[in-house]
Amino acid sequence: MVASKSATFFVAGGAGFIGSGFVALLLETLPAATVVNFDALTYAGNLDNLQGLNQERHKFIRGDITDRSSVLDALTDATDVVVNFAAESHVDRSILSANEFIETNVLGAQVLLDCARERKVRRFVQISTDEVMGSLPEDTDTFFTEESHFRPNSPYAASKAAAEHLVRAAHHTFGLDTVITRCGNNYGPRQFPEKFLPLMIANALNDEPIPIYGDGLNVRDWIHVDDHCRAILKVVEAGRSDTTYNIGARNERRNIEVATSVLDQLGKPHSLLKFVKDRPGHDRRYAINPTLIETELGWKPQETWESGLRKTIDWYLGNPRWVDRARSGDYRQFYAQQYGIEVGAN
Ligand SMILES: NC(=O)c1ccc[n+]([C@@H]2O[C@H](COP(=O)([O-])OP(=O)(O)OC[C@H]3O[C@@H](n4cnc5c(N)ncnc54)[C@H](O)[C@@H]3O)[C@@H](O)[C@H]2O)c1
Repeated sequence: MVASKSATFFVAGGAGFIGSGFVALLLETLPAATVVNFDALTYAGNLDNLQGLNQERHKFIRGDITDRSSVLDALTDATDVVVNFAAESHVDRSILSANEFIETNVLGAQVLLDCARERKVRRFVQISTDEVMGSLPEDTDTFFTEESHFRPNSPYAASKAAAEHLVRAAHHTFGLDTVITRCGNNYGPRQFPEKFLPLMIANALNDEPIPIYGDGLNVRDWIHVDDHCRAILKVVEAGRSDTTYNIGARNERRNIEVATSVLDQLGKPHSLLKFVKDRPGHDRRYAINPTLIETELGWKPQETWESGLRKTIDWYLGNPRWVDRARSGDYRQFYAQQYGIEVGAN
């Protein structure tokens, strides 16, 4: 087991949606673990996500993973595990401008790998995405496996695929202990409101139109963020070095089906759906075969789609202040540019 209960973790991107959930899980389940949370606080990073965490075992450092000296300062020889969540993570933004994606997702990953090696960390875990494998045919029984070829179709996916190659190279060239995880679409609390599910919930609550790309029939494989975090912890602790693990909850849903489930649960009319021009290069279907992590590491999702969606909607209903704060500023400008709809306008 690589991470003992008292391990020292360096989590990059731990103020974002998934990273903050993982930091909370570490502090809850490993009672003597300490966490350095290193995050640049881009538009997607949110210190509100870290409220209530154990202050003695959690240290937040604002820093950029492309800045080698800051990373080296924050990493110590006592660091056992680096987990890299830090990324530009929104496909639509990568279509508007790819540069930030190359800088953080590719160059930043290489800086982290170099620094991890210099500090002799025991394990490096790269959080990747099913999107590196491209799009699957519709209505078939084909699934992504760990052996699927790289076929990234967006600048975001291409940058994440590039990072995976660098991780592999760090293992084979320098002997760094590395593991990669590839997950599907996460949903749950604390997700930045530009993403599909929180955008729908927030808009439905405000009786604002809900933009649906194209015909709405694109399929995504949804997983609750807590199940994803528990899977990553399994991989940290017991994953085989130089191995990639697909993480999925066998929960394929068409976008239109997700949208109508949200509207139904909130008691809102389907007339709020507004079909908009499709995203360029929009992948049609993602579907993950998680057999390897299930059989080798004994991981299984705990949430069903129904329980996870209910909890997620309840969280957004119970945290209006979080939503209001996240929906202001940069998000407002991006939203108007992307969909041609002003936040707050019906
Ligand atoms: N959200 C999903 O559905 C999903 C699915 C599969 C994989 N992933 C991967 O999981 C990771 C986390 O995704 P998320 O949805 O939590 O993203 P997010 O956008 O919510 O969070 C990303 C975090 O990284 C930080 N960050 C960005 N650039 C940085 C830099 N240069 N240096 C330091 N920190 C920086 C941001 O401030 C933010 O806190 C990403 O690597 C993403 O590719 C996400």
